[in-house]
Amino acid sequence: MLQPSRRDALKLLGGGAAALVMMPSISGAKEGAGTSFKLVAQPVQHKLHPAPDAQESTLWSYNGQVTAPTLRIKQGERVTIEFTNALPEPTSIHWHGLRIANEMDGVSGLTQDPVPPGGRFTYEFVAPDAGTYWYHAHHKSWEQVARGLYGGLIVEPADGSILPEAQDHLLIIDDWRLDGEGKFDAASLGAPMDWSHGGRMGNWLTVNGQSLPTISLPKNAPTRLRLVNASNSRILDIDPARFGGKILAFDGQALPDAPMELGYTPLLLGPAQRVDLLVEPEEGFVLEELSQQPFAFCSFEVRTPAQEVAAFTVPKPNKLPLPAKDDRFKFDLRMTGGAMGQLDNIYYQGEKLDRGGFQRTKQFWAFNNVANLAEEPLFSVKRGQTVELNVSNITAFMHAMHVHGHHFLIEDRDGGGVEQSPLWRDTFLVGAEQSTRIAFVADNPGKWLFHCHMLEHAASGMNAWFEVTD
Ligand code: C2O
Ligand code: CU
Repeated sequence: MLQPSRRDALKLLGGGAAALVMMPSISGAKEGAGTSFKLVAQPVQHKLHPAPDAQESTLWSYNGQVTAPTLRIKQGERVTIEFTNALPEPTSIHWHGLRIANEMDGVSGLTQDPVPPGGRFTYEFVAPDAGTYWYHAHHKSWEQVARGLYGGLIVEPADGSILPEAQDHLLIIDDWRLDGEGKFDAASLGAPMDWSHGGRMGNWLTVNGQSLPTISLPKNAPTRLRLVNASNSRILDIDPARFGGKILAFDGQALPDAPMELGYTPLLLGPAQRVDLLVEPEEGFVLEELSQQPFAFCSFEVRTPAQEVAAFTVPKPNKLPLPAKDDRFKFDLRMTGGAMGQLDNIYYQGEKLDRGGFQRTKQFWAFNNVANLAEEPLFSVKRGQTVELNVSNITAFMHAMHVHGHHFLIEDRDGGGVEQSPLWRDTFLVGAEQSTRIAFVADNPGKWLFHCHMLEHAASGMNAWFEVTD
């Protein structure tokens, strides 16, 4: 099986409400160059809905931009990010998918203390892998990411093979929930109904902060589209074959047989997942969300390029440590809980939760019967050990499981194997009543989070960590 099968357990609130209005074209969210960046987390006023009587929303941003500046960095180069928190509450930044030193991973409460209002923190790291990544708040992520605290991060390959801007576009897709006045629905943040079901689903899809933008591409030129799903919980169903898109990379990692045509459709893109596509458009096309009633959320027009276009070099796969065949540390993880799921055996902070306990703690989900494992690691292994995780999803929902600090290979789904060379990913989808086996070499010492990237699920129990000792 190439990807988990989609069941209908996902509730989409008002999906399809987007895409009514054509917005002017955008030039992407690119800014900054070199090795040193300044990021300031701060509130910003922004109109998400284009209707003249729609109200402005108070969002949270990096550097006042809705879709924060894209950080373009070089593989193997030292990067410094001076971060200032100008929000009214503590925060931290996580560099999603980068295999960097643990103390720079940005997980508040695990790898660092949160940065208080008015405080500063300097992040410094070397990105080992080229590809498409992103950064986002990792303190109360369910609220801070929903309010807009995220941006793109592109690691250019050390060999310098990169397409010019006109042929390389980053599309950060977000699923906002707007209220009846067209502004960010803050009142429903943290709603227990979302936490126990499919997470906070929105009703307004944007690309780089805009609804249904039109992006101009050079006609018949090889162009890379880097898609990032920054939604709190929405899984996007897209079909690149409709516009001739081929796959270059998943979760930052270039495929060995790129560009690859998908043998299946649609392609599911879960929260935090990325896919890089190669297109050579003859004419305009649209990107559609197909999960329920299909609607377009990004439109592309083609222009005859003024200058000669750059030739395309296939991105080379990064060098990742291959899991050992034998000598594995094996760990079984059972995911339970949630609406319509098993709720009879869930412990939180040593207490067995009953009906009243669930309401009071808002913990609805568990890994091996424990909600939000905080004190103890799930497991602890020595550096260099191959870890095999057998994950069974015994819930009524699909989940997007993210391992911090490591990419892993997806080796099996439901005992049926995988029909191609196993994919490297940092986040995998596992469908309701399905199981998935992943493996990786735990080569990075420290405390690493393992959680569902449906951010409400992480907050309400699907959150744990493991330790790699030196
Ligand atoms: Cu994208 Cu724990 O994060
Ligand atoms: Cu989940």
